[in-house]
Amino acid sequence: MNVPCMEAEGASLALLEHPPAAEPESGPSLFIPGPVPELLAKRYRIERLLGVGGMGAVYRARDLLREQFGDPNPCIALKTLNESFAEYPDANALLYSEFALTSRLHHAHVVQVFGFHTDSACRRAFITMELLKGPTLDQLIREYPDGMPWEQLREIALALLDALAYSHARGVLHGDLKPSNVIMADDGLRLFDYGLGQATGGKLPGLPRLSHVRIAAWTPRYAALELLDGKPLTAAADVYAVACVLYELSAGLHPFSRLTARQAKAMGQDQSLARPAKLPAHCWPALRSALAFDPEQRIDCQSLLAAFSAPKPNLLQRLFSRRQG
Ligand SMILES: Nc1ncnc2c1ncn2[C@@H]1O[C@H](COP(=O)(O)OP(=O)(O)OP(=O)(O)O)[C@@H](O)[C@H]1O
Ligand SMILES: [Mg+2]
Repeated sequence: MNVPCMEAEGASLALLEHPPAAEPESGPSLFIPGPVPELLAKRYRIERLLGVGGMGAVYRARDLLREQFGDPNPCIALKTLNESFAEYPDANALLYSEFALTSRLHHAHVVQVFGFHTDSACRRAFITMELLKGPTLDQLIREYPDGMPWEQLREIALALLDALAYSHARGVLHGDLKPSNVIMADDGLRLFDYGLGQATGGKLPGLPRLSHVRIAAWTPRYAALELLDGKPLTAAADVYAVACVLYELSAGLHPFSRLTARQAKAMGQDQSLARPAKLPAHCWPALRSALAFDPEQRIDCQSLLAAFSAPKPNLLQRLFSRRQG
């Protein structure tokens, strides 16, 4: 399974074999990979391509070491940079950053990463992680064009918001929340792809300070307005993105007809935003607030989680709150 080789001008694996440098300009930015061979680092046999994103290609691979020791589940997922992305400055430091951020997270609903490796023969860096089997949320959204039933939606929302709230509490921002970065695996939901993630408040001081602005890879229709305006990533921007995903699951449609926040704001689309029929009324004020274009107006992830966790009010409670309102 060979991917065409890139011109290897100035490529240097030696840079990769040391921890990434502190400044992007002096980091391991000259590394350009060769083709993906069938066997990586003399240990991982590539079996098939699982998915390709804007940045990486993810393969199913067999870990020959695990197999040798009789592990009944020797298959893993292996992420490497795709050809076009490898040309970006900082690309390998970005892959390392994804590994470093994700490896800080130990949560039932966050993908588990195993290691960051390099293959000296093909000069490729790659991440190994648990192999997830199941549909991504964008596949599920297509299955439910009128929105997902509440019981199923609630289960997904609780797992996803719990994973995100946990990441924020550990000082890790995701930066690229969207339906294709969430898989409903056999044993539950997993949030993955922290490739555009960042550490908050100096919680991971050893990580390279990467210029994400230079990479400008935010997914436009899930990017909060302030990100599109060039402001730094914050927990509030992750909340906007996760709110778009939850709206899409409950309505079958993106809240702003797949427009960017800037376009939607210019068209006044937030004024006409209505509660999706499948979403219980008690969750709507929180979701509505999470979709605010102004980050100051946005609820935080914990509060959004609390709204989705609350039981549906019974008839008496609804009547009472209507009277009070
Ligand atoms: N651990 C995994 N197990 C199984 N499939 C995976 C795994 N990780 C990723 N994939 C598949 O590969 C696809 C691309 O992975 P990923 O999102 O990490 O790449 P990316 O290039 O960073 O994507 P993006 O376009 O979001 O930047 C996913 O949408 C998913 O289908
Ligand atoms: Mg992705």
